[in-house]
Amino acid sequence: MTEITLRRPDDWHLHLRDGDMLKAVLPFTVRQFSRAIVMPNLVPPVRTAAEAEAYRGRIGAAVPEGADFTPLMTCYLADDTDSDDLIRGHQSGAFTAAKLYPAGATTHSADGVTDIARIDGVLGRMEEAGMPLLVHGETTDPDVDVFDREAVFIDNTLKSMIERFPGLKVVLEHVTTIEGVDFVRAGGENLAATITVHHLMINRGAMFEGGIRPHLYCLPVAKRERHRLALRKAATSGEAKFFLGTDSAPHPVSAKEAARGCAGIFSAPAALELYAQVFDDEDALDKLEAFASLNGPAFYGLAVNEGTLTLKKQEGRVPGDVPVEGGEAVKPFHAGQTLAWTLGHELINGDDCDAC
Ligand code: NCD
Ligand code: ZN
Repeated sequence: MTEITLRRPDDWHLHLRDGDMLKAVLPFTVRQFSRAIVMPNLVPPVRTAAEAEAYRGRIGAAVPEGADFTPLMTCYLADDTDSDDLIRGHQSGAFTAAKLYPAGATTHSADGVTDIARIDGVLGRMEEAGMPLLVHGETTDPDVDVFDREAVFIDNTLKSMIERFPGLKVVLEHVTTIEGVDFVRAGGENLAATITVHHLMINRGAMFEGGIRPHLYCLPVAKRERHRLALRKAATSGEAKFFLGTDSAPHPVSAKEAARGCAGIFSAPAALELYAQVFDDEDALDKLEAFASLNGPAFYGLAVNEGTLTLKKQEGRVPGDVPVEGGEAVKPFHAGQTLAWTLGHELINGDDCDAC
């Protein structure tokens, strides 16, 4: 196959940040995706419906002229989340979903949930309302090895939470392990997972190839090769439970290349092209549309996008450092490397896109 046309895809897990960084990174997502689930871990986090609407407005103002992009907003859950505001926000369309960060599990999660039992009331209301819960599935117990934190979280926390709320829609975000894939497969229809392109492409060894590689560090951290292979099987299986979520998480180069470099991989600039490469390598290009464009909307109960997008098997290149207003830059995943697949002629809402 030298060309593949898909319904326009969506990104079901994305960090867009705010201010100058938002302006710098958003065009890369808009080029490929119609909608994105926007993570709420700003500083301070997006916790109320009013804050989500304000943030949606700032994203809307940063969308390049003529482009068509719908941000789907999320609420950052905390021990004291106001469940009335949350459910009203879901009903009004301010919030598509709510995000559970165990406090301290990852970047900008300090204000997250300290003990899931404390938000049982909120989870019960979400279950009743059909509001999806998006889970950062890692234990915060410092005694648990960083490579085991997803599996331990599933055993110690997620299993019992799902037993308490069997009707709750749950997405195990950025799944990284065999244990995670198996757990999602064994669950009901209301349990799904997103898979990032970097976890499909790198294993934990990549972080140490020829020296420490801070731009390949994210949370959950990449795992052993056998986990990467299981993720590739799940993503390319066509199963409805697995869909695309880049977890593109931009940080200034200075914050990554530091003695304590922060977690997050900026994959937005070539995400779809790299997913296409993975699916091609797995001989599963016929499953890419399900993963990128169909399974996510079906889980969220949303319509699939109008319009299509075409990928061509022709060489391209991942951009180098992306400048951010104010002097900083952000480095894309696989910056400067050759791409096997590139975006061809794009249609947005059925019309030719001038910008393409
Ligand atoms: C994310 C970020 O930088 O906001 N970092 C990451 O490594 N993925 C937070 C997250 O999704 O865990
Ligand atoms: Zn994330």
